[in-house]
Amino acid sequence: MSATIIDGKAFAAKVRAQVADEVTKLKSEHNITPGLAVILVGEDPASEVYVRNKGKQTVEVGMNSYEHKLDASTSEADLLALIDQLNNDPSVHGILCQLPLPDHLNEDLVINSIAPEKDVDGFHISNVGLLGTGQKSMVPCTPLGCLMMLRDHHGSLSGLNAVVVGRSNIVGKPMANLLLRDSCTVTIAHSRTKNIEEVCRAADIVVAAVGRPEMITGDWIGKGATVIDVGINRIPAPERGEGKMRLVGDVHFDSAKEVAGAITPVPGGVGPMTIACLLANTLTACARANNLPEPEGLTA
Ligand code: GUN
Repeated sequence: MSATIIDGKAFAAKVRAQVADEVTKLKSEHNITPGLAVILVGEDPASEVYVRNKGKQTVEVGMNSYEHKLDASTSEADLLALIDQLNNDPSVHGILCQLPLPDHLNEDLVINSIAPEKDVDGFHISNVGLLGTGQKSMVPCTPLGCLMMLRDHHGSLSGLNAVVVGRSNIVGKPMANLLLRDSCTVTIAHSRTKNIEEVCRAADIVVAAVGRPEMITGDWIGKGATVIDVGINRIPAPERGEGKMRLVGDVHFDSAKEVAGAITPVPGGVGPMTIACLLANTLTACARANNLPEPEGLTA
């Protein structure tokens, strides 16, 4: 039997609607409008698309969007000065500096100069440490979106065997920490893992975040397992015409869906959840900054 398809697009729309409701309440009951500042340095076309989408969706849920587009040659001192100004601006509740940065800028230094309570990416070393020790933090958007979908599908994740394929700071490691916090038995698999197919086959949950197109095929998946595909890879699609490309995940969808119990598609799975969770994090940061209760179901 074919797997249940987890519809990330519909789920993200639900999250955005909940965020929009909460924003309406914040405005009418407290006269507060959450604000998200996004910094883009340089002209990377993919980053420009992301930033445009973020700005558009921020405004759609009723928040203020502040875009700061800086020249590719911007000095580190100037970028840090802007972050300092945003850190001290009470109308800004979330700050995101789009990565990757041009080579002359030190990414770690820049990320760690964002006030941790405004770090809606959850990349600041303080937030990494807080998440790793099970304390209240800002949680990276993509893993948070994956967690929301898993909780929605399974209810409790307690005692499930989860394998995260990929060990990046942005997805793999925080994902593993979140699953551990929900009492999964967690394995992080990567390029050096022995018998990786077998490790994956024993899992109730597989989260694929390696960045290798269609690496995980149906024979890696245990019967009935839930598969969350974080990968977004552009590959040639000659069948669509010369020079055409198509998007695929890290999972070979057609073979995996024949074995899995549930699976996220690419596109339309994890992708739309990332920006929805960015908006959720901005709302959470705004609630915390104003000592208001955090909206339910939008945080880890
Ligand atoms: N570049 C690609 N994805 C992301 C993200 O989630 N956050 C930031 N800051 N930059 C990115």
